[in-house]
Amino acid sequence: MNFLPATWFDHLDSTNRQLQRLMVEKPDLPAGTVIAARGQTAGRGRGQRIWLSTPGKDLTFSFLMQTESPKDYFPTLTLATGLSIAKTLSDNLELPARLKWPNDVLLHKKKVCGILCESAGTTDRQRNAIVGIGLNVNMSDADTQKIDRPATSLKRHTGHTVDVEETLIQILDGLEKTLHQWESEGFGSLKAQWLARCDDIGRQITLARPDGRSISGTFTDIGSHGEVQLTDPQGTSYSILAGDMILNSNRI
Ligand code: BTN
Repeated sequence: MNFLPATWFDHLDSTNRQLQRLMVEKPDLPAGTVIAARGQTAGRGRGQRIWLSTPGKDLTFSFLMQTESPKDYFPTLTLATGLSIAKTLSDNLELPARLKWPNDVLLHKKKVCGILCESAGTTDRQRNAIVGIGLNVNMSDADTQKIDRPATSLKRHTGHTVDVEETLIQILDGLEKTLHQWESEGFGSLKAQWLARCDDIGRQITLARPDGRSISGTFTDIGSHGEVQLTDPQGTSYSILAGDMILNSNRI
């Protein structure tokens, strides 16, 4: 997939919502359409959480992905997107970007980026996904402390202000290659790279599931649909597609 030049807005409620509205107005909106906002008034995260960003300082954008992959592979689209962003941050800013299942990019164990991938209907044989990305670029410590989980920004670790628009161009460049590979060869061809950037494999975790139940055990692998595989102390193995991962020794 090739990206079109991003359309920038000073303020939006949410770039994911704006892309949804645009898809209703223009049903033939091309794949690779990118909407970016300098500020969001109602940014959304996973599980109906709010996504806080500092207007003018952070990167919030969404793009339209069209794929022939079945919808149940969409969780691996989130994983591939996170991997690509982590690689871009490492390659361009020499930052030690790591991954936390399912959608977090971390710097020094604190979240710097989150991804919200939403299914958005079908066109011919193609399925649409809206992939929304929030990256903390130039937030100060005071800004990140307003977030209810450990969070950080690129500036905090590079020591200098980072150009938001240039960062978007670098991220899209990386995503073009990674998502082409995801589409043509599948997540299986990216999984080893994803695991190499995740510090949690082999660790004791608790998965808090959307239905309120939790399962604890050893995080052993990622399945072909992006699910967490874990084994509990009795030796029973589970594959879990949705939930929040809590590291038993270290809550992130
Ligand atoms: C998460 O970590 O929970 C996902 C956060 C995703 C936030 C981005 S910001 C751009 C896009 N628009 C939204 O409303 N959400 C995503």
